[in-house]
Amino acid sequence: MSSFPDARAFPAGFRFGAATSAYQIEGAVAAGGRGPSWWDRFAHTPGRISDGGTGDIACDHFTRWREDLGWMQRLGLQAYRFSVAWPRIQPDGRGAPLAAGLDFYERLVDGLLERGIEPHATLYHWDLPQALADAGGWQARDTAAAFADYAGHVVQRLADRVAHWATLNEPRCCAWVGHLEGRHAPGLTDRRATLAAAHHLLLAHGLAVQALRAARPGAPLGIVLDVKPYTAADDRPETAAAVRRADGVFNRWFLDPLFRGRYPDDIAADHAADMPEVRTADLALIAQPLDFLGLNYYTRGHVRHDASLPHPHAALVPVPGAHLSTMGWEDWPQGLELMLCRIHREYAPRALVVAENGAAEPDVVDADGRVRDPARTRYLAGHLAACARALAAGVPLQAYLVWSLMDNFEWGRGYTQRFGLLHVDFETLERRAKDSAWAYRDFIAAHAAAHAAPRGA
Ligand code: FCB
Repeated sequence: MSSFPDARAFPAGFRFGAATSAYQIEGAVAAGGRGPSWWDRFAHTPGRISDGGTGDIACDHFTRWREDLGWMQRLGLQAYRFSVAWPRIQPDGRGAPLAAGLDFYERLVDGLLERGIEPHATLYHWDLPQALADAGGWQARDTAAAFADYAGHVVQRLADRVAHWATLNEPRCCAWVGHLEGRHAPGLTDRRATLAAAHHLLLAHGLAVQALRAARPGAPLGIVLDVKPYTAADDRPETAAAVRRADGVFNRWFLDPLFRGRYPDDIAADHAADMPEVRTADLALIAQPLDFLGLNYYTRGHVRHDASLPHPHAALVPVPGAHLSTMGWEDWPQGLELMLCRIHREYAPRALVVAENGAAEPDVVDADGRVRDPARTRYLAGHLAACARALAAGVPLQAYLVWSLMDNFEWGRGYTQRFGLLHVDFETLERRAKDSAWAYRDFIAAHAAAHAAPRGA
């Protein structure tokens, strides 16, 4: 436990939990009338997923959700972030909602509340109904309005019981990795498509916030962004410029419109030829005040300028001696502190939540049934210490959620990456807690004990 921070550094009421997303864990892709999403299509396209995996079965959480609630309880989790699968609610992305879909999430939310676990819901974690993908996906402006309609159905049913509603998970990743890098659905490599998707995702967020505020005035609303600090691997001015551009694309392209109502000038100028239509009212919609901002933080980008690469002309440089996860991501907790403090200083969201943070490691079940994963425990302890430092610096951080509750379908990397607190045997679907899960449980318990009312008081 020694490398964990002092639990008293986190105020009473701070929540520790874990996160998942629908397509990565649920399976049961045809149950209850669920329609196909573009991730079903993508995963079933030969060559797209590194091990040929799909989300057809995943962790079968759709059937085993009660068992998973039991695990959360055993670990003492205080918050759980899940996502709602749009194609379970509207199989074609439009029209009347399916009762079976809403019922599933209602049972899950009620089950969480019965166990004293705060539900954090995300309305879109990348599983766009295939019918909407066929009609242009996020390149089509209409998809934004369809999202607001879908979001209304879900929030109407569950608003009174969910602690945090996030509209979107990582619009950057959906736009860039899906439309420019081609590693995620829909698998495109087209800059115009990328910028159009990014704008329409933000517009979808804005329209949903407007619709949800009108329908359910008190519901706590936010969005979840992936953030990454960039550091310079040499002291050339060209590298400083590459760092600025990389930061502009990854971080400012989303933070600026959401909190300042404008796209960053430097990057907008770089992309002028490929920008979609941005209507006058769009940015005001996108920049509506939010109750919280969720951050997903994994690693930094340590880069140097490389003119032979496309914009932002930044080449990743390995850091000697750094610990890399099986994703190849450096364990760099200072980056989390840096991003929390910077975002608080420069954008001042009302509250912040670490909505995802974790590491994939080459976990194995030992002969005695234990999963020894000291690198993950170190990663979590280091990042919790970074959160403690950010809190001490005045950042209004409310919760910390580990990615992920359990090993699952890691998108283009299939089942090759284990991010879970729980190990999942993908043959038998058996779950077992890794050593890091027990260490996290002990830390959460220490926090609860530190803030327990003294006996007899
Ligand atoms: C994030 C995603 C999440 C998971 C982690 C490793 O970008 O939001 O679904 O895949 O990365």
